[in-house]
Amino acid sequence: MTSEAAPDLTVRIAGRQFKNPLGVASGTFGFGEEYAGLTDMNSIGALFTKAVTPEPRAGNVPPRLAETPAGMINAIGLANPGLKMFLREKVPVLQSLPCPAVVNVAGSTVEDYLLVAEAMEDVDAVWGIELNVSCPNVDHGGMAFGTDPKVLESLTSAVRKVCSKPLIVKLSPNVTDIADTARAAEAAGADALSCINTLTGMKVDIRNKRPVIPRGTGGLSGPAIRPVGVAATWKVSHAVKIPVIGLGGISSAEDALEYLLAGASSIQVGTVLFSEPDAPRGILKGIREYMAEEGLKKITDMHGFF
Ligand SMILES: Cc1cc2nc3c(=O)[nH]c(=O)nc-3n(C[C@H](O)[C@H](O)[C@H](O)COP(=O)(O)O)c2cc1C
Repeated sequence: MTSEAAPDLTVRIAGRQFKNPLGVASGTFGFGEEYAGLTDMNSIGALFTKAVTPEPRAGNVPPRLAETPAGMINAIGLANPGLKMFLREKVPVLQSLPCPAVVNVAGSTVEDYLLVAEAMEDVDAVWGIELNVSCPNVDHGGMAFGTDPKVLESLTSAVRKVCSKPLIVKLSPNVTDIADTARAAEAAGADALSCINTLTGMKVDIRNKRPVIPRGTGGLSGPAIRPVGVAATWKVSHAVKIPVIGLGGISSAEDALEYLLAGASSIQVGTVLFSEPDAPRGILKGIREYMAEEGLKKITDMHGFF
């Protein structure tokens, strides 16, 4: 009796084989421990941690989240335990994971990024780093590191010099042409790009006559941003040779397939985890079913249709 071989979901990024293309996005899965018991950790291909900065950060004053049509706005303010406590308390958690961990690195100065990136060199539990370049750059009047291709290129090359591990740059969609920042990151030595971070958004309380989030604006995520993320992934994957990790509003297998067909080598899920912590399992099942129906044997067969 013969049976059809299961579709091959493995992907290769920066020299490493991942068991499947689905990662959990930075800031939506903590450091892994928060979801223990809620998610089948074996279904996750890679974990992208909450941003780590050199010093602990309490984050912005609440409320820091607001629901919007088909999405949400967050202004968490990079709340995290800081580098020292990350090394002491979070690394053992990452060590116990059944998938590779990527540490999301943030800061207000180039030195902040370098401090965290250098510290990761000796941590075996950390496979690679992902630069969050949506942070305001204090040396450049608060403009985000990721909006000016020259500033992004110089940050990425500075980090590249101290980082021998895989280096992923997470692109901001809040730019005129995302292909320009993608090319700048590639030229500076990035091994892969995550595409996209959140879009700037605001929700106003019409009775208080104030923004719902005291800080004013926040980052819009969820299904509302998916068409923006898919278009950005398509554009970026045609502009660079390095792999693109697509994300933004993925909550089903169909959503993930849109990104993969548009050129993503792998994907991440974020906001969906708040309402469906075990979404990765169903998404992978749906991808497998689609591949079987379409006669696609390897996930890489999805590239190059348009
Ligand atoms: C509550 C929250 C916290 C986030 N924190 C981070 C972060 O620390 N670093 C980062 O690079 N992105 C962060 N993000 C952005 C997500 O990783 C992701 O790029 C974005 O939400 C789009 O994907 P989604 O629509 O699937 O959530 C955060 C998003 C949310 C909703």
